[in-house]
Amino acid sequence: MSNRVQGIVALGRGEPVTLTTIVVPDPGPGEALVRVRACGVCHTDLHYREGGISDNFPFLLGHEAAGEVVSVGPDVSDLQPGAFVVLNWRAVCGTCRACRKGKPQYCFATFNASQKMQLGDGAPLSPALGIGAFAPLTLVAAGQCTPVAPVKPEVAGLLGCGVMAGLGAALHTGSVGPGDSVAVFGCGGVGSAAIAGARLAGATVIVAVDIDDRKLEWARSFGATHTVNSRRDDPVAAIRAATGGFGADVAIEAVGRPEVLEQAFYARDLAGTVVQVGVPTPDMPFPAIPMIEFFGRGGALKPSWYGDCLPSRDFPTLIELYRQGRLDLDRFVSETIGIGDVEEAFARMGRGEVLRSVVVFD
Ligand SMILES: NC(=O)c1ccc[n+]([C@@H]2O[C@H](COP(=O)([O-])OP(=O)(O)OC[C@H]3O[C@@H](n4cnc5c(N)ncnc54)[C@H](O)[C@@H]3O)[C@@H](O)[C@H]2O)c1
Ligand SMILES: [Zn+2]
Ligand SMILES: [Zn+2]
Repeated sequence: MSNRVQGIVALGRGEPVTLTTIVVPDPGPGEALVRVRACGVCHTDLHYREGGISDNFPFLLGHEAAGEVVSVGPDVSDLQPGAFVVLNWRAVCGTCRACRKGKPQYCFATFNASQKMQLGDGAPLSPALGIGAFAPLTLVAAGQCTPVAPVKPEVAGLLGCGVMAGLGAALHTGSVGPGDSVAVFGCGGVGSAAIAGARLAGATVIVAVDIDDRKLEWARSFGATHTVNSRRDDPVAAIRAATGGFGADVAIEAVGRPEVLEQAFYARDLAGTVVQVGVPTPDMPFPAIPMIEFFGRGGALKPSWYGDCLPSRDFPTLIELYRQGRLDLDRFVSETIGIGDVEEAFARMGRGEVLRSVVVFD
């Protein structure tokens, strides 16, 4: 059996996305069929549409989602139909070399559904990050469903990608601790979450850097203590000024550009950590940094995949912090939109008008 629904597909590089019929199979072994209730528009969806991730068009976009399990494959015993879940793109395998070393957050062989969703004409779809949730139904590996306490789906879904990536960049990859100083470059959904994560961890100085004053205003509401518009002011000098002349203990790059990575590199204190959570495109070179600067400044340069999160550990915890009023996830939802509005949401993201537009299904 299969299901025909309307989903948002990127057919070719740089082409506007289209709402078109897709075919979603019923779950086979190890799989789950999910009724998507909400799915946020992440910059990574735009990267897919622009061919910046791979050339495996057509892509079924959307990967920041929450919903309910409709049905599961015959061998799936630890996930019940009806469960409220956040979809994740890190269904750990338990057997790869990272998992066996006790570091499943780096799992190198994560699970996705084995069966392909298709276009109406039978062409196989590549679901964004193995999810594909700009559709009312999607097929994923059962392990991609993380049960959480029921909250508003447009809020829960945020944890599925960008907000988790930002929170985790601060909490896990950067290991921000009480009293640390943190600089965050790029205050979109991911960077704002990094600011929220730094506050949660007890950072005392949090410098937000962006080229858009509106984003900097929002950054303050997430916990930034200082803001810098790097179009107007040198961010490295401003971060030094905010940190007693030393630089930040942790500098988080949440844009994905070499010149911003370079700023983050120089904005650190000695032995400080740079976290790279923004995603570069394949054509971008590493910044030309003299090797003596790398050695002489010490510390660490750390890419952050998905905020080094472990969905089964982190999603329920973060939802609980939200329920207790300690993590303001509502603030990330700039607008809720219909499934037909994704292209316009990309444009609004490009103009810097939103942190997250979230598609909501009835
Ligand atoms: N590592 C991961 O696991 C992961 C997960 C999700 C998203 N991402 C990536 O994180 C990045 C940010 O995603 P987002 O959804 O927050 O995007 P976004 O478009 O909402 O935010 C980007 C922000 O960067 C700002 N910006 C642009 N150029 C800048 C510059 N030169 N200096 C300072 N700020 C600048 C923009 O004004 C905007 O506020 C993207 O590259 C996305 O693909 C990574
Ligand atoms: Zn593994
Ligand atoms: Zn994403």
